[in-house]
Amino acid sequence: MCGIFGYVGKKTSAPKAVLEGLKTLEYRGYDSWGFAWLENDKIVVKKAVGKISNVKTINSTPVRNSFVAALGHTRWATHGGVTDENAHPHTDCNDKYALVHNGIIENYTELKKALLKKGHRFKSETDTEVVNHLVEDEIKKTNSNSKDSGPLLFEAFRHSFKKLTGLNAVALLSPNNEIVLAKTGSPLCLGLGKEEYLVSSDAVAILPYTKEVIFLEDNQGALINSEGIKLYDLNSGQVINREPTHLEWSIGSSSLGKYAHYMLKEIYEQPKVLSHIVRNYKDAILALSGVVKSSYGTYIIGCGTAAHAALAGSYLFSKIASRHVNFSFGSEFIYLTNFLTPRSLVIALSQSGETIDIIDSVMEAKKRGAKIASLVNNLGSTLYRNSDYKILLGAGPEKSVCATKSYVSKLAILAILASALADDVVSGMKQVAKASESIEEILRKKYVENVKKLAKKISSHDHIYTIGRGLNYPTALEAALKIKEVSYIHAEGFAGGELKHGAIALIEKGTPVIVFAPFDETYDSIISGATEIKSRGGFIIGVSPKKNQVFDYWLPVKDAGSASCISQIVVAQLLAYFLALERKADPDKPRNLAKSVTVK
Ligand code: F6R
Repeated sequence: MCGIFGYVGKKTSAPKAVLEGLKTLEYRGYDSWGFAWLENDKIVVKKAVGKISNVKTINSTPVRNSFVAALGHTRWATHGGVTDENAHPHTDCNDKYALVHNGIIENYTELKKALLKKGHRFKSETDTEVVNHLVEDEIKKTNSNSKDSGPLLFEAFRHSFKKLTGLNAVALLSPNNEIVLAKTGSPLCLGLGKEEYLVSSDAVAILPYTKEVIFLEDNQGALINSEGIKLYDLNSGQVINREPTHLEWSIGSSSLGKYAHYMLKEIYEQPKVLSHIVRNYKDAILALSGVVKSSYGTYIIGCGTAAHAALAGSYLFSKIASRHVNFSFGSEFIYLTNFLTPRSLVIALSQSGETIDIIDSVMEAKKRGAKIASLVNNLGSTLYRNSDYKILLGAGPEKSVCATKSYVSKLAILAILASALADDVVSGMKQVAKASESIEEILRKKYVENVKKLAKKISSHDHIYTIGRGLNYPTALEAALKIKEVSYIHAEGFAGGELKHGAIALIEKGTPVIVFAPFDETYDSIISGATEIKSRGGFIIGVSPKKNQVFDYWLPVKDAGSASCISQIVVAQLLAYFLALERKADPDKPRNLAKSVTVK
């Protein structure tokens, strides 16, 4: 939530670098954008409501052969409406420093009151702006001889930052072409290029410059200037040393290429993601299965799409390995931690590894001595760093706000893990390989055209329902989430058997109902449910290996045993994408949403 990007270097125009960095981070928030750079030793701020992707260029005077810094932000509003004034960066009373923030400053009301009393003038309604004025005060206090640069600037910034409560990441640009930054919660990583240094909320924006990154830990800060990056411990103010991590991702994997949207590109990447897992993950999964076997009480958690993968995991464990695993939403698990002991295992699923509801739950579980295993996409993320055992999803950068490839990756790993628990890892791998082949068929032109046709047919409906039983109940939930988040059609997923207990009252003549009917123990019951809906006027869209007379529209998906849930969801992802296009919505930037929910 909110993207921060900063550049200090002499290789390229700093404002241009920030513009490009922000475009890469736009998925983190697209209410408004802004950036700051220096001209004639003065900070220039440019900010506006709207999407950074619509900004073609910025008029800055190019500076050659000397180190120049610039800092920018894409906003997902928390405090204060979506206005130009509330967009970041913010400045102090004298417009000397520019500051950007990701997080929520919980004590900002008290801080603001005290600062107003001292005569500070506020220009925005944000919680962020208090930091500008705190720094202004600290610099006055600590740097009476106005040495507001280098370690002294960092020290003033550190003292101000330490007055904030909540989970925050803040960066400040000084008129001396320096950036200082600190974090207690939201992610920040630093890039170490040649004669250029970077700070970003996500390493993906650093990739065009360098693959050497440092993922800042909580309670660490940094000073970036022409001398490089100096890291600090926020509590002691002491300099610390850390070795950078080498990223394996390639730039190509994060660019749009021939696709109109990231959502579509990432849907098409899914067979590759699955084959990669089948080829390379056997040993890691076998090792994790050993951990699961030796635990006493296993919990599986996730939020949103990751919650649906976690729920599917609970069915996979039961069906394939006859093993009980307790499912919980990441945001609810914190209220269920009383049972945890040092023998408990929490399996946390997260694409970003930064979702605050997951992080809070994991931290609480750790306090109780439980072990943490994570299936996480982002190397170096908070979840990754705090896990005792981890498997990277290997999905590559997922830039569409709507999760697609990270979902199938989680399902694939869980399906193979369940087989490993049943001492038959090979059959899990075979089924995932089958699901991958089936997805390749779904992604063929003719099939995609058919899904597009269906989207056209049902796009004017206000409600769409989805049903599935057993392993395909999570598929129904996930399908509904995809449809509502990108097309804004109200979609709701149900366990197939539950509809007749109330929700069937919603079915009217022509109401589209998507029925997930793989060849498994749920087939006959889900078809009976579909028949009941059809007799009440429902328009039945069957996602199934076999045509059935109850289907008004049939989308065939080949059987892949227990991994069928992996291929079936792809049909819904495509349908959601085309519904969004039909309704003139941008599938990559659903309204009100941001990828990576780092605030409560
Ligand atoms: C839906 C979606 C969200 C995320 C959820 C968890 O398409 O993207 O529901 O799945 O916010 O995010 P991660 O996996 O990053 O923890």
